[in-house]
Amino acid sequence: MGISDSLFIKACYGRNDGVIPLWIMRQAGRFLPEYRAVREKATFVEMCRSPELIAEVVRQPIARFGFDAAILFSDILTMLTPMGLPFEFPEGGPRVSNPIRTPEDVDRLVDVNAEKDLDFVLEGIREIKKILPDTPLIGFAGSPFTLACYMIEGMGSKSFDKPRRFLHEFPEAGDRLISFLADNVGRYLKAQIAAGAETVQLFDSWGGMLSREAYRRWSASPAQRIFETAKTEGVPRIFFVNNVTPYLDLVSDIDCEVVGVDFRADLAHCAASLPGKSVQGNLDPSVLFGTREQVVTQTKRILNSLDDHSRLIFNLGHGIQPQTPLQSVEAVVETVHSYRG
Ligand code: CP3
Repeated sequence: MGISDSLFIKACYGRNDGVIPLWIMRQAGRFLPEYRAVREKATFVEMCRSPELIAEVVRQPIARFGFDAAILFSDILTMLTPMGLPFEFPEGGPRVSNPIRTPEDVDRLVDVNAEKDLDFVLEGIREIKKILPDTPLIGFAGSPFTLACYMIEGMGSKSFDKPRRFLHEFPEAGDRLISFLADNVGRYLKAQIAAGAETVQLFDSWGGMLSREAYRRWSASPAQRIFETAKTEGVPRIFFVNNVTPYLDLVSDIDCEVVGVDFRADLAHCAASLPGKSVQGNLDPSVLFGTREQVVTQTKRILNSLDDHSRLIFNLGHGIQPQTPLQSVEAVVETVHSYRG
């Protein structure tokens, strides 16, 4: 059985008639003791640059839980360094050393040549495929607005006031920045596919804080361009939008196979609003801190809410949190894999 016949790829194309597939955002990460053991010996950035460590931590959650898809271990910020914006990961999240402050800073950005500048990512993908030939591999990148958030703010933030202000204070430079990012992200995803990624996911983690007009201009339209560039026969494209509900009509028009749905949304309403697309989601990651019974009930509630399970990929509605109990993840896997709709 090839990758194209896997539960995950079939569900991405809305033609699954078997078990419902699942994977978990941030599945290669700190909630796993075996990840923490690797992480003790290397910094996060060192791990991201080592094809062997990349392959090892991608393998770990597949081996432990039997998830139906693997996701590349890297970060959306990895591509910032070759653009001329190096960053670090001290305790407390990312720091960009020279964030964008002016329109002139936008014109200094350098195009990324993935084969040359991010060879360790592409080599990581090839290593993963050696050890996980039968598990579909998801490559990924950050959406232009999400990347711009870190490039302008220089760090994480609850409201990203600086980037939102920048786009309105300097709309032409804002358009140039978003367009530069759309070109580079599109090419980067294509390079990941050429290296062996069988699916790509675009993380629009912070676009959900934009007004509808701003979303159309700085999130939906660049996403469309990226997905046109990345379009490849047999390689589904997933658009994860954190807070998708206000923009469902705009997202529905985007050329992609799957929409990743955040935990605030009603999954059945999203599925009904996205004809022809598959949906991926959307259990609240904090539910995993409740009792086993709660975890099972909430998982079933989502499964039962949909009539058509042929186009569902089960996932959390955002990344899993570091201290999540492993038994809760096991309960989700058992509930989803034993579900018969
Ligand atoms: O999903 C996976 O398992 C694959 C790997 C992956 C990571 N980051 C590894 C990571 C993916 C897909 C990402 C995406 C990412 N990175 C996003 C978009 C997804 C989302 O959550 O909305 C964003 C916004 C980032 C930026 C980022 N990376 C932040 C803000 C942080 C610090 C906060 C945190 O969670 O620690 C990171 C660090 C990060 N990225 C870690 C991992 C495993 C933790 C690093 C460590 O081990 O110390």
